[in-house]
Amino acid sequence: MSTTFTLDTSTSRAHPVPEPVRRLTVPALRKRKANGVTEKPLVVLTAYTARMAQLLDPHCDMLLVGDSLGQAIYGLDTTIHVTLDMMIAHGAAVVRGSYHAVVVVDLPFGSYEASPEQAFATATRVLRETGAAAVKMEGGEVLAPNVEFLVKRGIPVVGHVGLTPQAVNALGGYGVRGRSADEAEKIAADARAVDAAGACALVIEGVVEPLARRISAEVSCPTIGIGASPACDGQVLVVDDMLGMFDRVPRFVRRFDGFAGRISAAAQKFAAAVQDRSFPGEDELYPPKPGA
Ligand code: KIV
Repeated sequence: MSTTFTLDTSTSRAHPVPEPVRRLTVPALRKRKANGVTEKPLVVLTAYTARMAQLLDPHCDMLLVGDSLGQAIYGLDTTIHVTLDMMIAHGAAVVRGSYHAVVVVDLPFGSYEASPEQAFATATRVLRETGAAAVKMEGGEVLAPNVEFLVKRGIPVVGHVGLTPQAVNALGGYGVRGRSADEAEKIAADARAVDAAGACALVIEGVVEPLARRISAEVSCPTIGIGASPACDGQVLVVDDMLGMFDRVPRFVRRFDGFAGRISAAAQKFAAAVQDRSFPGEDELYPPKPGA
């Protein structure tokens, strides 16, 4: 599968280009944290489509094809319903739309937890069919053997601890984690286990700030925070949250745009132009060939 192409925005179709383009690599990102210090924080956004990937790519070190696409793209209520086929289709689109960032694809619920072999079979399919460089798995100590199995066989894995949305039914919701001492210790142990298993990076989601700070100091791999701490080695947001696509704004989200309002305004202008017949205008029509 070729990842060397440009996306022709006039047609919205990807066209291969002969010149190979050099992408960031997983080892290069991993090395950004050296001796516990990350000079240049990792910039990570989720992406689900080729055109969005193309726009985000120059600004990001990593594009995460998160299973949050279940809510963001498909209007599902949880990530539980997201399938491997969905992840592969969107993962391939993001790889096609990017040339610079490391692309990481989430393994969906039920596709990797049962055994290291199951995780390996799923991850090989994802890498083969998308061209992505790494997979992400939610979970801690129990999942560490699965992480190690993949890493030892050449598949880079990003871990994910704290609030793990695929476990929403067990957690009872999306509340912040690590408020009690016991829970904080458990999450810290999860993080250490996944780090020791060889994860190339670790997402820390929805935990109290001191815990995220502590984990970032304790683990050797770069941590990527979401609802975590500025002390993490990088930060990630769901792109739709960052753009201001949803009305609800959780505490950890900063809106860097009010994109929903701008889309709505554009649709309103389009509707008015259709209704008053000012669209399409003369310049937007195909005239007959001269002399035809
Ligand atoms: O699915 C996702 O988008 C994620 C991020 C929130 C880290 O896992």
